[in-house]
Amino acid sequence: GDVAVLVPAAGAGVRLGPGRPKALRLLAGEPLLVHAVRRLAAAGSVHSIVVAAPAAELDAVRRLLAPVAPVTVVAGGAERQASVAAALAAVPAGPDIVLVHDAARALTPPALVEAVAAAVRAGDDAVIPVLPVVDTVKEVDAAELVLGTVDRSALRAVQTPQGFRREVLTAAHAVAADPLTDDAGLVEKLGVPVRCVPGSEYALKVTRPFDLALAEHLLAAGV
Ligand code: CTP
Ligand code: MG
Repeated sequence: GDVAVLVPAAGAGVRLGPGRPKALRLLAGEPLLVHAVRRLAAAGSVHSIVVAAPAAELDAVRRLLAPVAPVTVVAGGAERQASVAAALAAVPAGPDIVLVHDAARALTPPALVEAVAAAVRAGDDAVIPVLPVVDTVKEVDAAELVLGTVDRSALRAVQTPQGFRREVLTAAHAVAADPLTDDAGLVEKLGVPVRCVPGSEYALKVTRPFDLALAEHLLAAGV
């Protein structure tokens, strides 16, 4: 394999409601992080996996993942971007392609991981999986009055894994200032073109309780 995957998993999961850090919440009896890592490890190109876990859970996460796949576990940071940076610093020498994948996207198909990696291998410096936006989108002001309707045909909803040529991601994080919610955003600031490839509905991010319920149903249906 020529691919390293960084798995930011250090978030609290505030939008999911009170409980353990989100990556450790159970989905069909197993933590979200276990589902996510199992699917990553099933992608043939994946050479190494680095997880950024909550600092208080390092040993628990190492024990949890030991039977699933060989992984390196490091402490994450206060923002997602800091967690990704910590994981990036722990990538071993070798892989030329680095993917960044949310632990919260627990049901991501291995085929999507391969598709993103393949696009980087084929020559794109930065690759993101996207879906069309299905709802009408309005821009509003502070009083919730509509300012206008956005042209949805030019919008994409962005998922992970996002894939990068290793040097490009390293350079983007080296100059990162304000924290962003995705890594392609950092690369855009360098002026590097970012390629979109088709995403997967199964790569949904478990964010709110509804998403967890949906993921449970998908797993029960054999996804
Ligand atoms: N993440 C991280 N370190 C942080 C914040 C987020 O590693 N300081 C990770 C989360 O664990 C998750 C991914 O980034 O796998 C996407 O973040 P998000 O869905 O926002 O998760 P949380 O930040 O945990 O959720 P919330 O924003 O509702 O608290
Ligand atoms: Mg968050």
